[in-house]
Amino acid sequence: MKHFTFVRLSFALPILFLVGCAANSNNPVADELPQARDPLSTSFKALGQAGLERLQQDDTQRICSEYEGRELPTDLMMAIIKSSTDSVVFPADGNFMGDWETGKKIAETGTGLQSNDDPSIPNGGNCYACHQMAPDEFAYGTLGLPLVNYGKLRGTSEAILKYTWTRLWNSHAYNACSHMPRFGANGVLSEQQLKDVMAFLFDPKSPVNKEVAVQ
Ligand code: HEC
Repeated sequence: MKHFTFVRLSFALPILFLVGCAANSNNPVADELPQARDPLSTSFKALGQAGLERLQQDDTQRICSEYEGRELPTDLMMAIIKSSTDSVVFPADGNFMGDWETGKKIAETGTGLQSNDDPSIPNGGNCYACHQMAPDEFAYGTLGLPLVNYGKLRGTSEAILKYTWTRLWNSHAYNACSHMPRFGANGVLSEQQLKDVMAFLFDPKSPVNKEVAVQ
């Protein structure tokens, strides 16, 4: 369990670091020292699958970094939401549900895309870095809201399935500057892996939906 906690943190920390960097323009130390102004480009070395292109922000990241801590203008917000919504690809066969047991493993796995990961091994979703999911798992982050009883509380209407798939594919479709990784849009998880994670969230047999409400 301790090992998993470390892996999860190791995935979450670079994200928090990047978020933190966005606020640096008001930092007097960063303005004084050139090496503190751009610590990523001076310290990051390409290694394995982690190439230098990762330092290039896409438009969404650039805009969200620029407005971190400030209100995003409505036109930019709507443009991000539109392009993110347009990016979503729904399952070709119209079936949103895979295997919850495989989805459980994907949610628990914090490896993938790092320089020392084998690119031939499928990536994990590392959902527990940010969300509480199955109630019997005690190591979880709280950047995202708890997903305990997700399917039990929301049901499986077409609208809920599409909403959740869109969240997983590209969370910026609902929150322009979401801090949730774009699992589908960025190719972190495959269509089948996303279906398995959906089953973990919705299947009545999944431990996610086994929490007994505390009275
Ligand atoms: C780096 C943190 C992070 C990771 C990793 C992450 N999420 Fe999220 N997630 C969030 C945040 C933050 C939100 C809240 C809304 C937002 O930012 O848009 C969210 C929202 C959601 C929602 C919408 C919940 C609701 O009540 O409508 C779902 C579903 C979800 N996440 C599922 C997942 C799954 C499944 C995984 C793993 C494949 C995952 N998340 C990985 C941060 C994360």
